[in-house]
Amino acid sequence: EETKSWKKLINVAVSGAAGMISNHLLFKLASGEVFGPDQPIALKLLGSERSFEALEGVAMELEDSLYPLLREVSIGIDPYDVFKGVEWALLIGAKPRGPGMERAALLDVNGQIFAEQGKALNAVASRNVKVLVVGNPCNTNALICMKNAPNIPPKNFHALTRLDENRAKCQLALKAGVFYDKVSNVTIWGNHSTTQVPDFLNAKIGGVPAKEVIKDNHWLENEFTQKVQTRGGALIKKWGRSSAASTAVSIVDAIRSLVTPTPKGDWFSTGVYTTGNPYGIAEDIVFSMPCRSEGNGDYELVEDVIFDDYLRARIKKSEDELLAEKKCVAHLTGEGNAYCD
Ligand code: LMR
Repeated sequence: EETKSWKKLINVAVSGAAGMISNHLLFKLASGEVFGPDQPIALKLLGSERSFEALEGVAMELEDSLYPLLREVSIGIDPYDVFKGVEWALLIGAKPRGPGMERAALLDVNGQIFAEQGKALNAVASRNVKVLVVGNPCNTNALICMKNAPNIPPKNFHALTRLDENRAKCQLALKAGVFYDKVSNVTIWGNHSTTQVPDFLNAKIGGVPAKEVIKDNHWLENEFTQKVQTRGGALIKKWGRSSAASTAVSIVDAIRSLVTPTPKGDWFSTGVYTTGNPYGIAEDIVFSMPCRSEGNGDYELVEDVIFDDYLRARIKKSEDELLAEKKCVAHLTGEGNAYCD
């Protein structure tokens, strides 16, 4: 034990820490499966006044688990306290949607939360904090958060679309009759909403273009696409609440993709700031795109992807939706009066 060399402690903030997603996620973070078995971690849990006792309960369970890597658990309801010095901020806490709602219906209530948290991050977090926004509508919330944190690089803000990527991989694997690990190069383009575009043009199955393996364009353009786009809503109907365990798993995947080198030839999807993108997507929104990482917490956009008319048209729809969402939260990004369609 004494000879084991530990890395420097990292500070990870999690908002919505008393919620369902966090209840899965926090124990994964503490176990070392996210940041690695030699990475000590401090968990800073942000909750609300309403959920404060539940938050205390979460901290008790974490402490009782005796994780060797978990060096500190602290709780609070003020983001200016909780975000102090954090290197990662996993922003989960928000009002979730219920049955029959679209995620965009949450724009106003949740947008306020992310404006405030962006300000707090800007004031007290590490200057290179990585921010992953999970609360919906996550792309626009990430944009709001970023705009309220001008001293943090825009590149550091992510919106979670990894759950959609995982859902797409699952459907492609089932259709092709192969195990999930054969499916690679899957991009989710755009918004984490029903306009998202699961890209089957660039996807591969066993290293071969998915279209050549599946040979059913009708299924790909219709059933597959729709199934992935509406999976979150379908799950809410079944459970009466939004997905929690699979969301936590996809958060783990999203972080691991940034802290470990991307396997050769593959990539992952994450919602990131579009300014300077090579695909011709509108600038100044948060859009899911294909990325690679060297494992240092940063990413670069993948250049060698192909487009056809179908893919372009679908991407445009998601882009239009995000531009409309952005107009609707202009009061929260400091860009004038809000205009909602
Ligand atoms: C999901 O995709 O399951 C989550 O974003 C929850 C939702 O509103 O669908």
